[in-house]
Amino acid sequence: MITIINIETIKQIKLFSGLEDHDLKKIAEVVKERVLPAGTTLFKEGDVGDAFYLLKDGIVEVNKENSPAINDIKSSDESNFFGEMALVEGAPRNATIKTKIESTVLEIDKVNFDMLLRLNSFIALRIMTALTQRIRRTTAVMKAVSIEEEKSGKLITLFSPKGGAGKSVTAANMSAGIAKLTGKKALLIDLDLQFGDLAFMLGLKPKRSIADLVEAESETADDLKKFLSEHPHGFSVLPSPFKPEQSEMVTSNHLRKIIKVAKTIFDYIIIDTHSLFQDLTINSLDISDYICLIMAPELNHIKSMMQCMKVIETLKYPPEKIRMILNREECMYAISKPEIEASLKRKFDYSLHDDWKNALSMVNEQKTIFDTTSESVYRTDFIHMITGLTGEKITEEAQKSGLLGTLKGWFGGKEKGK
Ligand SMILES: Nc1ncnc2c1ncn2[C@@H]1O[C@H](COP(=O)(O)OP(=O)(O)OP(=O)(O)O)[C@@H](O)[C@H]1O
Ligand SMILES: [Mg+2]
Repeated sequence: MITIINIETIKQIKLFSGLEDHDLKKIAEVVKERVLPAGTTLFKEGDVGDAFYLLKDGIVEVNKENSPAINDIKSSDESNFFGEMALVEGAPRNATIKTKIESTVLEIDKVNFDMLLRLNSFIALRIMTALTQRIRRTTAVMKAVSIEEEKSGKLITLFSPKGGAGKSVTAANMSAGIAKLTGKKALLIDLDLQFGDLAFMLGLKPKRSIADLVEAESETADDLKKFLSEHPHGFSVLPSPFKPEQSEMVTSNHLRKIIKVAKTIFDYIIIDTHSLFQDLTINSLDISDYICLIMAPELNHIKSMMQCMKVIETLKYPPEKIRMILNREECMYAISKPEIEASLKRKFDYSLHDDWKNALSMVNEQKTIFDTTSESVYRTDFIHMITGLTGEKITEEAQKSGLLGTLKGWFGGKEKGK
């Protein structure tokens, strides 16, 4: 509905306060009042701008594509007008405006808006001031968003349908390897919430766990850092709860929030899980960039992996997201890799040789395979897997320290668990 309005209405508009009556009269003659129901789109981003609006009553929502909502404009705001940018610049509308509740706007078309700016320098100045503030606020929001997007860490979840396949030892060595070999920032999360013991396996003495983080309802990157334990190799660990009964405290929503924040400060986030398909684990798989399915070369692992692959199929993940890892390759009485691949109808992406000494030295002596410069095929397997998964370059120093093992591993030498 459009109505012509009187000078008294114009007087109540802040933008026009202090104007002489003859100026107010001129404005009243060119302003049209429109009452708009809630949810009306006044104009869309990209439209040609042909009018300027003053919000007499109500609230409108300002939205920009690829950007969070900038804010609402209320009739009680100091700058309770919009649409000026396109008219001043002659550019398309840079945002979409929609009424949040039933609202009354005063509309001034482009020709009359130009007349208004010429009429009184006060009006021009007020509009310019509001314009500058809005541009500044928009730039600040965009900057905050781009800082958040600057780092967007990759999430790798290790899962096995059978317990004892080597998820924890592999997750810990993988994190150590990423930190030591590539210099990238890595976070290891122990999502085996009831009996996870990664912090212990890594010789850490954490004071806080994932349960404390969730309880504190922390939401920022700085908050998250307070709950992490630092490993000497340069990666961080978010330990599992100290008491099994605290496992219930961590929900899928918590996990998603933690990962969202962690991705802004870490290049790689590695999650160790337990061997159960349940809500939390599936959520972890859903949001992962890579799912590493790990198994040992044993008959019961093959059977469980076949079932697991069927479930994974129903979850419809893109095939490139799934990486198959054969752990303990060539252990005593192992079923051979080609035989397993034939049963699974799937090739392994990576394999880790059987190396009880190096694997156990983490469990018993809290040492990762990157603690020493000693060479082994197992270590070489890790280097191969880490470079394959991350696509990162290995630093020169790291290359030197493990070069012999690397060469032997790739050219057929076998030097097991020295
Ligand atoms: N490549 C390997 N060579 C020899 N032993 C290994 C290897 N990888 C893991 N192990 C051993 O297998 C055992 C189980 O490993 P780990 O705890 O990592 O398995 P998991 O999948 O995390 O088990 P759980 O399901 O109980 O959490 C450990 O004793 C570990 O030392
Ligand atoms: Mg484990």
